[in-house]
Amino acid sequence: MEQEYKVDVAGAEVIIAELLLDDFQAVVGLWAGVQGVRVLEANSLVKFSSYLARNPGLSSVARMDAEVIGAVLVGHDGLFGYLHHMAVDPLFRGKGVARKLVERSLGCLWETGIQSCRLIVSEANPIGQPFWRSMGWKVRDDAKAMFIERGNEVIQ
Ligand SMILES: CC(C)(COP(=O)(O)OP(=O)(O)OC[C@H]1O[C@@H](n2cnc3c(N)ncnc32)[C@H](O)[C@@H]1OP(=O)(O)O)[C@@H](O)C(=O)NCCC(=O)NCCS
Repeated sequence: MEQEYKVDVAGAEVIIAELLLDDFQAVVGLWAGVQGVRVLEANSLVKFSSYLARNPGLSSVARMDAEVIGAVLVGHDGLFGYLHHMAVDPLFRGKGVARKLVERSLGCLWETGIQSCRLIVSEANPIGQPFWRSMGWKVRDDAKAMFIERGNEVIQ
């Protein structure tokens, strides 16, 4: 899973590579400055570290001159892949950085044998759906995402 890409962004070289634990501070800084990404648990070093350890090599980072300009978290549960927290620095958007991040992570995900990847797009994010559609993702019209939080279970 040692996939690494080089992308030309306005004449500068951007490296697309595996997201590492050492990238934590930079990635949290990126997410904090980007609208449309809800960070929650991944903002904790322990959770970030656990996520990367459970899904080795699948998450990707974009670096320009060693600075993080984009990132995406990708993992799977043995049945389906899940993609979270896709973000590119506003200064470097529209140059194919997100496309390469997704290409790398999905390539690594397919190598594990997983054949389908899912994500949740907030209705409040105007970029979300058009962006993912242009990347080839499909909207499920036959289902709604549901969730429960610890402490709210009704067990009979
Ligand atoms: C969405 C985001 C990651 C796109 O990053 P990017 O590097 O600019 O995207 P790319 O340049 O790789 O574009 C990939 C494709 O998406 C399309 N796209 C990019 N931004 C788009 C937008 N705002 N609306 C519609 N399509 C868009 C591009 O046209 C391109 O398609 P093409 O190759 O067929 O031309 C970036 O705008 C971002 O970080 N937004 C804030 C966070 C966010 O909303 N994340 C998604 C959460 S669901």
